[in-house]
Amino acid sequence: MPSTVLVGAQWGDEGKGKITDLIASDYDYVVRFQGGNNAGHTVVHGSKKLALHLMPSGVMYEHAVPVIGNGVVVDPGVLVKEMAMLEAEGISCKNLQISCDAHVIMPYHKDLDGADEKRLGTNQIGTTKRGIGPCYQDKMGRKGIRIQDLLDESIFRLKVETALSQKNPILEKIYGLHSYSVEEICEEYLPYARILKPYMTETAQLLNNALRGGKKILFEGAQGTLLDIDHGTYPYVTSSSCCAGGAATGSGIGPTAIDRVLGIEKAYVTRVGGGPFPTELKFAEEGGEGQDAIDGETLCQEGYEYGVTTGRKRRCGWFDAVIARYAAEVNGLTDVAMTKLDVLSAFDKIKICVAYECEGKRYDYFPMQQSVLFHAKPIYEELPGWEGQDITGCRSYDELPENTRAYIEYIEELSGVKTSIVSVGPDRDQTILRGW
Ligand code: IMP
Repeated sequence: MPSTVLVGAQWGDEGKGKITDLIASDYDYVVRFQGGNNAGHTVVHGSKKLALHLMPSGVMYEHAVPVIGNGVVVDPGVLVKEMAMLEAEGISCKNLQISCDAHVIMPYHKDLDGADEKRLGTNQIGTTKRGIGPCYQDKMGRKGIRIQDLLDESIFRLKVETALSQKNPILEKIYGLHSYSVEEICEEYLPYARILKPYMTETAQLLNNALRGGKKILFEGAQGTLLDIDHGTYPYVTSSSCCAGGAATGSGIGPTAIDRVLGIEKAYVTRVGGGPFPTELKFAEEGGEGQDAIDGETLCQEGYEYGVTTGRKRRCGWFDAVIARYAAEVNGLTDVAMTKLDVLSAFDKIKICVAYECEGKRYDYFPMQQSVLFHAKPIYEELPGWEGQDITGCRSYDELPENTRAYIEYIEELSGVKTSIVSVGPDRDQTILRGW
């Protein structure tokens, strides 16, 4: 497996961090190719848990080169802080490589993210307010500021000045916010530039040379398939290409260089922020009732479903095989890692959504129209649970209870992808490998 792309197969938070951490030691390069510090995952370092938002997980391995690819948006202040935190923990960042073509998140991007959400009111997307969307807007609008612009103070000043001539009137006149001077931005950003300069490089060339040299590369996706700007539940998505194709455009390798695509799938589904979610089990405080509200709360509590980046309670629901099938196709998944299977030990009966129903019509495939997805009712099949048996100590597939295996195998049948990795707890060793 010289190069593998790892992607979220749902709405993010599928447990990508644990699986990346588990397999990253086999790779020479670990590459982030999209998103920014809207992502967040916890890595275990000795007895400590560390939260990473921007740094590729490869930083945890001395031999690996962590790469921030051109498709990532970088908040330099966040990166510098994260590097300092890691160094203080004794984890060296010396191998880090940052693409000169990655775009820079500016202070006004964060202001505009928050202000735009406020403007949307009840229709808000529920963004992380890290400036991700506005930064990608500038990138696509061909007026962004890139990492390489930080290398030359005069170019950086000029670009900031040009950007502010548009941003300041928007901030002041449309949103009633304060504007920025070139000086205050330079005062904040130029010191970051001095710290980050030694790590900036042409990462496309670096990675292609690595492939030619027989090195192994892991592309570490953030967010998930249904949050992808093209294939997700638009407009309730993030602004980047989270699907496997994004690994090529976001790093500069060709699609033919990708050997394996591993989709991370939680044994149930969660989502943060707004947007359609057919199998959602609404919490009581959100108007949910009866057994559904109880089941939703159980998933949240047992799965500890609170965001790493925002601390928000995640919306929870039963496994959705329509999504799983869709994710298999749009990513070209060759393998699946199923995470948090142990959380389902709390249930006597477990539901799987096999299709949707909307206005009398059955949908086995992901519906073309967003309005259908908003009103889709899940068609469930119910499987027996494993009677509270603790599966957290299982280390081989055969040790799992029969009903647990039946659950995994039914999902494989519905989605058409083999589950090569099964996770039964948060620790690295609480994992079952099936041909990975
Ligand atoms: P943004 O990426 O901050 O613009 O947020 C857009 C949408 O993506 C919101 O619904 C966020 O909650 C969601 N989102 C962004 N990053 C993550 C993530 O790492 N996990 C789950 N959801 C995310």
